Formats: sequence, C-alpha cells, structure tokens
Amino acid sequence: MKKLWGGRFTKSAEEWVDEFGASISFDQELVLEDIEGSMAHVAMLSKTGILSVEDAEKIKAGLLTLKKQAENDGLTFSVKLEDIHLNLESKLTDLIGPVGGKLHTGRSRNDQVATDMHLYLRRQVKLIIQLLNELQIVLLEKAESHIETVMPGYTHLQRAQPISFAHHLMAYFWMFERDKQRYQENLARINVSPLGAGALAGTTFPIDRAYSADLLAFDSIYENSMDAVSDRDFILEFLSTSSILMMHLSRFSEEIILWSSQEFKFIELDDSFSTGSSIMPQKKNPDMAELIRGKTGRVYGNLMGLLTVLKGLPLSYNKDMQEDKEGMFDTVKTVVGSLRIFAGMIQTMKVNEQGMEKATKNDFSNATELADYLSDKGMPFREAHEVVGKLVLYCVNKNCYLQDLSIKELKEASSLFEDDIYHVLNPRTAVERRNSAGGTGFKQIENAIEKAKLCVLEK
Ligand code: ARG
Repeated sequence: MKKLWGGRFTKSAEEWVDEFGASISFDQELVLEDIEGSMAHVAMLSKTGILSVEDAEKIKAGLLTLKKQAENDGLTFSVKLEDIHLNLESKLTDLIGPVGGKLHTGRSRNDQVATDMHLYLRRQVKLIIQLLNELQIVLLEKAESHIETVMPGYTHLQRAQPISFAHHLMAYFWMFERDKQRYQENLARINVSPLGAGALAGTTFPIDRAYSADLLAFDSIYENSMDAVSDRDFILEFLSTSSILMMHLSRFSEEIILWSSQEFKFIELDDSFSTGSSIMPQKKNPDMAELIRGKTGRVYGNLMGLLTVLKGLPLSYNKDMQEDKEGMFDTVKTVVGSLRIFAGMIQTMKVNEQGMEKATKNDFSNATELADYLSDKGMPFREAHEVVGKLVLYCVNKNCYLQDLSIKELKEASSLFEDDIYHVLNPRTAVERRNSAGGTGFKQIENAIEKAKLCVLEK
C-alpha cells in the first residue's frame, strides 16, 4: 500500500517497523473528533474561497458518510495507514475520489491531532464533572440522614474526638468540590483551538482560524502556531487533576475498607458492590474499594509518563508526542469507572449507627472535654491537660474509662469538677457542643449541608 506521504521515498518499511510506528490501534478512539475537526476545517476552506463550494460539499458529504459508518462501528482501519488521520483521509478518497485529497489543504496532522485531543478531552472532562456532581449528591443525601450519627474521629488512626458521621462524609464532599473546580479550570485551557497552526509555522493559505474555532465551539485560538502544536499542558493538567481526584477516592476507599472490617464494623457494603472468596465461604470482600485504591497508581503513572515524555522535547512536534494518548485514554476510563462505582457503593452501603456510637463510649476520646471543662472554669489549659492526662493514666491502671470515675475520684484530681461533668463526658454532647465554624456540631453540619447544596445545584 502506498503511503500518503510516500512521494520522496524509494523503499518502504517492513511491516513490523510500520507496526511499531503506528498509533491506529489506540488513536481510533478519536475517530469522531477527527471527523468533527475535518468538517470545521473544510467549512472554513469553503467560506474563505480556498476550496470551491462544490469540492467542499463533496468532502462534507463524504465525511458525513464516514461519520455514520463510524457510529455503527462499520469502519475498519489499517496499520499500514499509521494513524486515524491517514486512515480517514484514505477512506474519504476511496469514497469521493481524488477531491478527498483537498481536505488537507492548509492543515497538517500536527494541528489536526492536537485539535482532536482538545475535542476529546473537552467531552470527557464535562462527563467527569457531571459524575463528580452526582457523587457529591449521593454524599449529601447520606450525610443528611446521618447528622446525629456519632462515631470516633481519628488522628494517627488513634481515637481522637467524637464526631458526626455526616461531618466525616462532608469532608469528602469538599474535596470533590475542589476536584470539580480544578476540572473546570482545566476546561478553560482545553477549550482553545490549535486548528490552522499547520505543521508549526502557520500557512500561506488565507485561512480563518477564528471561523473554524467558532464552528467547533472553542472559546479562542492559540496565539502562537508553534505553541499550538507543541502544547500538551492541557493533558498534563487533566492527568494531575485526575491524580488528585484518585488520591481522594483512594483515601476514601481505604476508610471504606477499614470500616467494613470486623475490627471496625462501622458499615456493611451492599452485596452488589462486594465479592466472595473462592475458598473461604464466610468472606465478603470490599474489592471495588480496593481496586479504586489500586487504580490510583496507574493514573499517577500516566501523569509521570507524560511529564517524562515531554521534558526534553525541542519545539515543535516530535513523534514522541504520539505517546500522549494511551495514558490519557486510560485515565479517562479509570476516572469515569471509579466515580460511577463509588457513587453506587456509597449509596447502597449500610451504616451501623449503634456500632459507631458504641465505639465512642469505649475509649478516651472525651478526654479533651474534661480538659476544656477545667479551662472553662479558669484553670490554664496546659494545667488542665496535665490533670486529665493523669486521670487517663489512673483509668488505664484501673481498667475503666473517664465516665466510669466517681465524682469523688474526679474531685481528688481537681475540686473544679461538679456533677454536670457526666453530661459533658457524653460523646453525643461532645459532638453537639463543637459548634465553631466548620466544626462537627450538629447545627454546624446542618448549615454546611445547606451551603453544599448550592454547589451541586449550580452546575
Ligand atoms: N499519530 C500522530 C500522533 O499521534 C499524528 C501526528 C503525526 N505527525 C507527524 N508529523 N508525523 O502524534
């Protein structure tokens, strides 16, 4: 098969060499974007008079036929034709004859592939934003039904202070809100048109870049043709934003895995999001959460991969840049899949309210309440900390908790203790009283949920 760029060659590469250089096995994912970009390009060529209306109409009709075939999975591609761009151009010429060769007037594969990638990521990032929004709604609903569910809050994975389960869930809500903002900022830089930059230097044809950009609903065009074909920042931003999102999902997964263990027993995942063991009949494994935690690694890898591909490249296009695609496709698939699974997993999980609350009673996470109580009564906080620390040690030796001490024992530690201390020591009271802005107090959470609702409704 003759190469579309074969004019200056006297000899062709062997098949295995072609195969190494080809990207068609993966860039066929861009088939619809490539056609969309070509439609805008040919419309521009016609509007500017670079192509006759008649030629342009023939090309458009051919592209539409290819589009229909692509949508019905009716296109097969050839490795010999290297990539999606040359495959489609060859199919177009097969369909409409040599006039198909006029489509590439004033264009290069370099601005063509960049255009495809911008169009592809724009669509995918919009979908990801929508899925993030849906996950946030699931979190809001769960949180709303668990404002008064009390659980231990941890630092260092040691019980620290009692909190509301809703407060814990809402912490993730705000992380996802930042992720959503990052994707939105990414969209602003994705939505810029490289089309018309040519190979690197622009073109002698009187093209109208603003017109084709407009047809493709891009907000603006790249100011510099070399930057237009060399830039992959928008993909790096996507990969780094996705890495941060996956890090959030991975931390959440870790908690889901811990909470559903027999040691915690705070939640139970629905059967539809769990798997069994082929040997141990009793097992119910949180595989989906583990997989999301695991898949985080490949997204980080994709980011490091592309950063490394780009770091030493001179301007402008280099074939190395063909390596930008697989990591991007893989990241889209991983993020979309993980978000869908996560929303379903959270929505269907059962929360063991009694188990959570019981856990807050069998520990010292109310020790801060005791110290705050004393300092409220005038004792310097450092001194109060010391007094309570000694009381904790006393309890450890006596094998009991602070709330089990008699008022006599407490008064021996400090005469400031009164009977109302038992109410203060109750974990539920401890949560309720933490009403500082952004705290876990029930009133604060109600306010936070109302504020959060505005974030998901807006979009
Ligand atoms: N398949 C190529 C890629 O993805 C398309 C651009 C080819 N450009 C070139 N000058 N060889 O990067």
